[in-house]
Amino acid sequence: MTDIPVITIDGPSGSGKGTLAKVIADTLGWHLLDSGALYRIVGAMSVRRGIQLEDEAAVAELAASLPISFADDRVTVSGLDLTDEIRTEDAGENASKVAHLPAVRAAVLDLQRSFRKAPGLVADGRDMGTVVFTQAALKIFLDASAEVRAERRYKQLKNKGLSVSLRGLLEQIQERDARDRGRAIAPLKPAEDAIVLDSTNMTIEMVVEQVLSHAQNLGLWQPE
Ligand code: C5P
Repeated sequence: MTDIPVITIDGPSGSGKGTLAKVIADTLGWHLLDSGALYRIVGAMSVRRGIQLEDEAAVAELAASLPISFADDRVTVSGLDLTDEIRTEDAGENASKVAHLPAVRAAVLDLQRSFRKAPGLVADGRDMGTVVFTQAALKIFLDASAEVRAERRYKQLKNKGLSVSLRGLLEQIQERDARDRGRAIAPLKPAEDAIVLDSTNMTIEMVVEQVLSHAQNLGLWQPE
C-alpha cells in the first residue's frame, strides 16, 4: 500500500487545483481524491439532518458514518445525489466551517487514505501534503492572488447564468482563506517539501506542463 505513489495538490479555492488534479489524474491514469468534496458533503448532510455546524461531536459522528460514493462524475450518499448541491458558495462556506473541527478531520482521515489504490493517486485539498499523505512522491502547492481567484470564480458563475458580485466573491474568498490558513488544525500552508507554483499569471496548460515535467523527472510518468 505504501508503495502506491501519491501526488498531492494543495492550495486555496480558485487556484485551479481541482482542474489541475483532474488533468494530472487523467493523464497518468491514476485515481483522484477531491477531499474538499468530502467536507462539502459533511456540511451539506449536517444541514439536511438539522445538525448545528458548531456541534463538533454530532458532525464528527455523522462524518464517520456517511456511505459516500464517487462514480461517473457524480457523488452520492446512500443513493442521494449531492453533486450539484455541494458546489454552491453556501456549501463551500459550510464545508469550511465543519473542516476546522478536529474531530471531523480525524473522522475523514481513514476515508481519504482509502483512496490510495494502484496504480496511483492524485489527492486535491488543503492538507494532503502536510497531514494526510506526508510521504507523497510529489507535492504541489498551487497558489494565486485572491483577486485573480475571485475573477475566475466570477466568470465560472456568470457562464452558468448566475448573477453574482465580484466584490462579494472577493470578500468571501478572503474570509474563507483567513479561516483555512488561520485554523489551529491542518492549516492551509505548503508542506516543507512542496513545490510552490503561483498560477496568478499562468494558464492551466502552463501549470499542467510544469507538474507533468516534475512527475517525469521523478519517474512517475512517461510521455507517450
Ligand atoms: O476545495 P474546496 O473548495 O471544495 O474545499 C471546501 C472547503 O473544505 C475548504 O474551504 C476547506 O475549508 C475545506 N477543506 C479542508 N481540507 C481539505 C479540503 C478542503 O479543510 N483537504
